[in-house]
Amino acid sequence: MTTLTHSIKLPPGRPPAIVGGNLLHYRRDALGYLTDNARRYGDVVLVRFGKYLGYQINHPDDVQQVLVKQAHKFHKAIIYKATLSEYLGNGLLISDGDFWRRQRSLAQPAFHYKRVQAYADVMTEYSLQMRESWRAGETRDIAHDMMSLTLFIVAKTLFDTDIRGEQNQIAEALEVLLRSVIEQSQKIIRLPDWVPTPARQRKRWSIDTLHEITMEIIQQRRASGEDKGDLLSMLISAESETGERMTDEQVRDEALTIVLAGHETTANAMTWTFYLLSEHPEVEARLREEVVRVLGDRPPTLADLPQLTYTEQVIKESMRLYPPAWSFARSVIEEVELGGYTIPKYSTVIILPYVIHRDARWFADPERFDPDRFSPAREASLPKYAYLPFGGGPRICIGNAFAMMEAKLILAAIVQRWRLRRASDAPVVPEPLVTLRPKGGMPMRVEAWT
Ligand code: HEM
Repeated sequence: MTTLTHSIKLPPGRPPAIVGGNLLHYRRDALGYLTDNARRYGDVVLVRFGKYLGYQINHPDDVQQVLVKQAHKFHKAIIYKATLSEYLGNGLLISDGDFWRRQRSLAQPAFHYKRVQAYADVMTEYSLQMRESWRAGETRDIAHDMMSLTLFIVAKTLFDTDIRGEQNQIAEALEVLLRSVIEQSQKIIRLPDWVPTPARQRKRWSIDTLHEITMEIIQQRRASGEDKGDLLSMLISAESETGERMTDEQVRDEALTIVLAGHETTANAMTWTFYLLSEHPEVEARLREEVVRVLGDRPPTLADLPQLTYTEQVIKESMRLYPPAWSFARSVIEEVELGGYTIPKYSTVIILPYVIHRDARWFADPERFDPDRFSPAREASLPKYAYLPFGGGPRICIGNAFAMMEAKLILAAIVQRWRLRRASDAPVVPEPLVTLRPKGGMPMRVEAWT
């Protein structure tokens, strides 16, 4: 973010408190504060975090400028680098420039359409295994189950590694990571780095755990000398034009980045989908009708995906209301004009799928869950960048086709066998951490279809 150094026309925004600017508003209710900003102050809104200024961009045309048309004027936000680089080094999610371009092109083949199709069997097999382990009448934390399922899938498909043994430690370390990232980015008063607070000790443990487990996987693969044709082999064997290979640490950074970016997002998409279905039995019934009509009793396969059209609409609409990547940000590296305002170099631009997806200008009656919004004709009439669960432009999610396929297969496999009902009447509160997840998990009762 930038500090105010010279006088430029600033966009409107919530008046700042004496201490912390808008930070207290944000910490009290980030989603409420940011949504209210858009409704009250328009398409470009000033956000003050202490002395730092950020620009909240709410119009799809301006989003397109940032992500696509003038993408070269932006880098990934410094705040992400500051908070994530300890874990992810210079991995794909936070790197920029030539290094990012090279790494992206090295990882890309693992996500090509044809390659992704080969992952379908694992996705289905793991979903069926989870589905069969559930019992009618039991209550399960679906958020937790989905997190495990997508973590297993990403590890198996991209690294050919079965991590079920270590899963709890990995999951716990990832959880500590995500919390520390948020806490760090919201701190008003920061103690010197050498003060060993309990939070910092937890964070150190989580970094060491994740690094150790990933290194072990890489070293085993190197030692085996085997080329399995998966992402891990691609990263290990990739050579630059000058014949250089990645070090173990670079491979580790890319691998961890993909594990992090590639499981919790999809897990949250699934959890929110099951929540929404439990609240909308009429949508659920229509979804199940499609799944039974297309599949009967057999497990879903790659070949079924084109017929599961309503299934896809349900997932898209769920990601509209609860986009797992609810916000992302950029640092301005070259002054830029957006929505009539000059945005100076070094400022932060904030893009919020959560807010844009609930804007009545693009989505009538925006709070309503209505998968028909994504029927082919209606989807085609949406303005570009009014719906952006996977971002856009050169930094668009590399795992986007992977995630959609995985989500469809998981949803079809579960709905074929079970319906899930909330096990508590307590209100569901979305918690905007790095991804958008339900606070306290999502306890649900497993019910057999009658
Ligand atoms: C529903 C699931 C997912 C959602 C909603 C999602 C969303 C996103 C978004 C919005 C971005 C762009 C962020 C930005 O522009 O700052 C992104 C980037 C990324 N995603 Fe995903 N993602 C999902 C699944 C996955 C999966 C399954 C993988 C890999 C297996 C993955 C790997 C990545 C990577 C590596 C990047 C950084 C790409 C780059 O900057 O070149 N994501 N994701």
